[in-house]
Amino acid sequence: MIDHDVLIIGGGLAGSRAALAVAQNYPHLSVGLISKVHPIRSHSVAAQGGIAASLQNVDNDDWLTHAFDTIKGSDYLADQNAVRVLTQSAPDVIIDLEHLGVLFSRADNGKIAQRAFGGHTNSRACYAADKTGHAILHELVMNLLRLGGKIYQEWYVMQLIYEEGNNGQEIKGFVAYSLETSEIELFRAKAVLMATGGYGRVFNTTSNDFASTGDGLCLTANIGLPLQDMEFVQFHPTGLYPAGVLISEAVRGEGAYLINDLGDRFMANYAISKNRMELSPRDITSRNIACEIAAGRGINGGNYVHLDVRHLGREKILSRIPFAREEGLRLAGVDCIDSPLPVRPTAHYSMGGIPTNIDCQVIGTDSKAIAGFFAAGECACLSVHGANRLGANSLLECVVFGKRAGEQLGAYVSDRAMPKLDPLAYIADAEAKLKGLLSQRGNARIADIRQQLQDTMTEHCGIYRDDRRLREGLAKLQVLRDRYERDLWVDDRGSVFNMEMMQAIELKSLLTVGEIIMSSALSREESRGAHSRDDYPQRDDAKYLKHTLGYLEMGAVKTSNRPVDMSLQTIDRDRFTPQERKY
Ligand code: FUM
Repeated sequence: MIDHDVLIIGGGLAGSRAALAVAQNYPHLSVGLISKVHPIRSHSVAAQGGIAASLQNVDNDDWLTHAFDTIKGSDYLADQNAVRVLTQSAPDVIIDLEHLGVLFSRADNGKIAQRAFGGHTNSRACYAADKTGHAILHELVMNLLRLGGKIYQEWYVMQLIYEEGNNGQEIKGFVAYSLETSEIELFRAKAVLMATGGYGRVFNTTSNDFASTGDGLCLTANIGLPLQDMEFVQFHPTGLYPAGVLISEAVRGEGAYLINDLGDRFMANYAISKNRMELSPRDITSRNIACEIAAGRGINGGNYVHLDVRHLGREKILSRIPFAREEGLRLAGVDCIDSPLPVRPTAHYSMGGIPTNIDCQVIGTDSKAIAGFFAAGECACLSVHGANRLGANSLLECVVFGKRAGEQLGAYVSDRAMPKLDPLAYIADAEAKLKGLLSQRGNARIADIRQQLQDTMTEHCGIYRDDRRLREGLAKLQVLRDRYERDLWVDDRGSVFNMEMMQAIELKSLLTVGEIIMSSALSREESRGAHSRDDYPQRDDAKYLKHTLGYLEMGAVKTSNRPVDMSLQTIDRDRFTPQERKY
């Protein structure tokens, strides 16, 4: 058994920032960070366009305007006190990152540069060219290593240990296996932070890397805890066609145009102000692109539109958005200096996740904190993004609440004893599970079930949804789940870096998360933010101004609700009371 005061699952921005905060503020505590990849290969490294903060380096900005933009962008579903913490803390965390060594791009006057992003009133996205996540993650991980944080890389967490403790049910650690050797180990801690990121691989077109399989969400659902607002899936408007990888919103922030087959800047044809155009929030822009494609105005009648940056000129393209150019060249054979890039919406981000309070403690269906369990970053749902996240707010969430989680964890474990735990049954269970996977003799290949899952999610729970499609989709997912249980066949029977075995376990995460997304989408009979129901096209505050909780009970998904926190209304009732969302 491996013991640490604090254990963190996931090495992306939220997990690394949390581990660093423990190491900085509580040097006497031992902190362990475990990840199925090297931390610097976590998906946060691919974050591109920026991190929002009202620094006022370009515009006369303030945290309350940032909060208002975030809540309006969320279609009023965000918890307002959590948004207050996010936006009030933003300027300080940027300075803090700079002090940790992050090299932000600069304006001519030497201040940190800030660019425009969709749905933000002011230019407030700080950036490092279009490689912002890369710049931040490297410094966080390097600083963590410098302060002696222990990293367990290429370990896969299989099960959370949630059992009776001194004061009722509590999280005591987890079971994990080494990808290198298949050795199973029990990790015990006074508190565990889940920071495993998103689940983009549930869909067949995604900006997310191969590791974004929703593992932390599934681990949490497997112990009977709810996942919140899982129906809200962000489709980023500009995935490179056909690969799906991200062409950053920074490209539109720098002035790119979206063009249809008629050569029109089609955003002008939708009900949005001429000042916004391509910088409308993502839910709206993605729907408009989907409408253009459905109406046959995709390029050559196809499944994509054009993103045109030629008017920006070579110098600006090379200095501000070099990575977008590189991606176009490498993955689509298009040099955006001379030709427009082919783009279409791509699954990008999960607004939903493990419900937490503002101190990052995981909460159950009764809103009470679960002892010893914290979550932060994309896998958590605070909820600061509600029904639709604004670009550049997710890196911000990771560093604000990663840091806060680390500080809270340090304080929380300081007067807590190491929990008592009998490892034997857990190890035996995990061994049986791995052995069972390897000895199953079915005829269904992992890639086959995964492809069918991704097709089903995309067809039945994509940008537009309705009751019939969702119900049909759920029935298909249940068939896939049965095939997985009965018929899966894993070719590789080895114990050294058996990536197929890992993919088999990841596939279970994808199936579980897919079913919770689909069930949550079915239960919300309205359109709000990124959740667009053809059969319920209006937002319905009377019935649905509340969070959805989806959880597993006897193997089936159940849903219930939780109220939305409207506390900023006390500061500014005019702005923070739900109203029609117009841009
Ligand atoms: O488009 C982007 O660069 C993505 C940013 C984000 O998701 O916040």
